[in-house]
Amino acid sequence: MARKDMLIRNCWYVAGWSYQFSTDKPVQRMLLGEPVAIWRSGDGAIVVMEDRCVHRLAPLSLGRIEGNQIRCMYHGLRFNAAGRCTQIPGQEIIPATACVRTYPVVERNDWVWVWMGDPERADPSRIAQSKALDDPRWVLKTGELHYQANYELINDNLLDLTHLAYVHATSFGAGPAWAESRPKVEAIAEGVRSSRWIIRTPPVPPLGKAADHQLVDIWTSYDFVLPGVFLLYTGIFPAGTAERCRNAAPPDDLPTLFANFTSQAVTPTSATTTSYYYSWGPAAEHGDEQMAQAMIDVATGAFLEDKLMIEAQQRIIDCAPDARPMPTSADKAITIFSRLMRSQDSEAVWITKQRTETTLTD
Ligand code: FES
Ligand SMILES: [Fe+2]
Repeated sequence: MARKDMLIRNCWYVAGWSYQFSTDKPVQRMLLGEPVAIWRSGDGAIVVMEDRCVHRLAPLSLGRIEGNQIRCMYHGLRFNAAGRCTQIPGQEIIPATACVRTYPVVERNDWVWVWMGDPERADPSRIAQSKALDDPRWVLKTGELHYQANYELINDNLLDLTHLAYVHATSFGAGPAWAESRPKVEAIAEGVRSSRWIIRTPPVPPLGKAADHQLVDIWTSYDFVLPGVFLLYTGIFPAGTAERCRNAAPPDDLPTLFANFTSQAVTPTSATTTSYYYSWGPAAEHGDEQMAQAMIDVATGAFLEDKLMIEAQQRIIDCAPDARPMPTSADKAITIFSRLMRSQDSEAVWITKQRTETTLTD
């Protein structure tokens, strides 16, 4: 088998944006093939629970939030935020087993992070360092896409940006240097860092002060960390800066002509489907809301280009699951990250590849 579908349980997964969950109505999400109901109790605290009522197994995401509790709207069983059944209409005795599973959840930087593994091991310090939407240094807008593809294909796409020269030549205006140069790739805690200069290249919009320059040097550096979070900084400098920096990272205090940051999360909703959440925008000193909106629109267009390719790639893989990929030197980050994923084997669930119909109700 060329690749097995592997889902790592003991990790924090992004289930969506904080603003998507309210005290009005629960929302269904699929995470690692498990349906969960996400809602806010009356005090605003977020709750993630198994989306399966203990009675006749109806989804609690079709239930009604009643203060700090949720009522299944099939036959009316009510559960508290810890998943314990607190009322069975017409029945006095509530069995001790009348509980639905709840999952550890943390809201951080506007993402809702859910721990799908052993609750004892849910350590919030392992949550990836994404940017908050109200971070004063950046102006960020958000987007999301839902894929009919295994999440590792999307991880692989983000771990090898040589594809920019081909998939995003127009949308991102990416030149051939993206394919012809190789980044510096290094292992970091829980992931891999990929950094490089793209030198003497014409600036493409949005430009900021880069508009005054015929050619610029672009520094890009991203961390890609478990289970699939991509954190990319891009800084644009006058041509010649890379040389002055001896091709190393520019000093933090070196002024940029333009800079932007994107946080992206790849979440397996099942073995064959994936959600992708992202924010992007300019540094506050270089751009405003309007520019941030223009950037996220370009990004969404570009990510749809990725989606077209990756879903088509998935269909080809499905035709011959035993066909093996042939790595190139551009695949170094993929190789390191894949090894890291496989080193988590004791925490992994190996699942049989099968196309399952999963639906997201929102
Ligand atoms: S299925 Fe939930 S109350 Fe019957
Ligand atoms: Fe891409």
